[in-house]
Amino acid sequence: MNPIVYFNGEFLPKDQVHVSPDDRGFLFGDGVYDVTLTYGGRFFRIGDHLERMKNGLRSLRIEGADVDALEGVGKELMKRNNLDCYSQALYLQVTRGVAKRTHHFPTTEVQPTVFASISPFNRKGDPENGSPIVTVPDVRWSRCDIKSVCLLPNCLATQRAKDLNGHEAVFVRDGSVQEGASSNFFAVYGGVVHTPPLTNYVLPGITRIVVLELCEQHGIPVRQVSILQQDLAETEEIFLAGTTSEVVPVTAVDGVPVRDGKPGPISRRISDLFVEYAHGE
Ligand code: PDD
Repeated sequence: MNPIVYFNGEFLPKDQVHVSPDDRGFLFGDGVYDVTLTYGGRFFRIGDHLERMKNGLRSLRIEGADVDALEGVGKELMKRNNLDCYSQALYLQVTRGVAKRTHHFPTTEVQPTVFASISPFNRKGDPENGSPIVTVPDVRWSRCDIKSVCLLPNCLATQRAKDLNGHEAVFVRDGSVQEGASSNFFAVYGGVVHTPPLTNYVLPGITRIVVLELCEQHGIPVRQVSILQQDLAETEEIFLAGTTSEVVPVTAVDGVPVRDGKPGPISRRISDLFVEYAHGE
């Protein structure tokens, strides 16, 4: 299969895309990305995803990419690939572009490299039966709020989870749980949903925003506070939220079951509310 992708203003078969070895995304991971889904042909919260991408580009001082045009690019990719599936994943990536290799930014004007592709969505994790997770030390940099393509710590963490038959790895820094390698983290104490507040160590997840909105609409209390790893043993429920996993109840952490090792009622309810909202939006 050779899907049609978008690369620097053109729609073309994927095998005809050639990324320069001087691209700063290739050399330095100097760029940002985002992933958003379609449900039944409609993009899910794409405005929020594009806004986050613009914030990331602004933080990295990457200029010249028409991020607003990417929704139209996504629609065109959907049309041209004509995939026969209800949910599709739109991948977007912008790097600083091609320039002579210097650590500092190029001194001459360069055009950012813009890539987009669409593919059938393969959900991670098991929303029905829940999934186990593992904890890993958070060895990432201090700007985890930017959705940068520098994902090596996330890849290593996810591989560790896979080696241990876990669905996801969750980063712990100075004793506090931050987030998953590709999801945000939630735990329930006393019937209240807790999630770490947005800091430079947490990606402002779009699914996280939707979960918080759904909790508010449905009278489920929420607190945005630090969650200590040592307190995980007392939690009633844990769940993760992210574009590629949606809402997944967690059944065990580092091999220790969460309560009876089955998805709890609040996680289930939020997972159901999420699906209902996403499919109805
Ligand atoms: N990851 N935290 C991290 C570190 C992430 O990489 C992601 C998403 C999230 C959840 O964000 P959102 O709800 O906006 O998807 C949280 C994407 C899906 C990925 O890397 O494929």
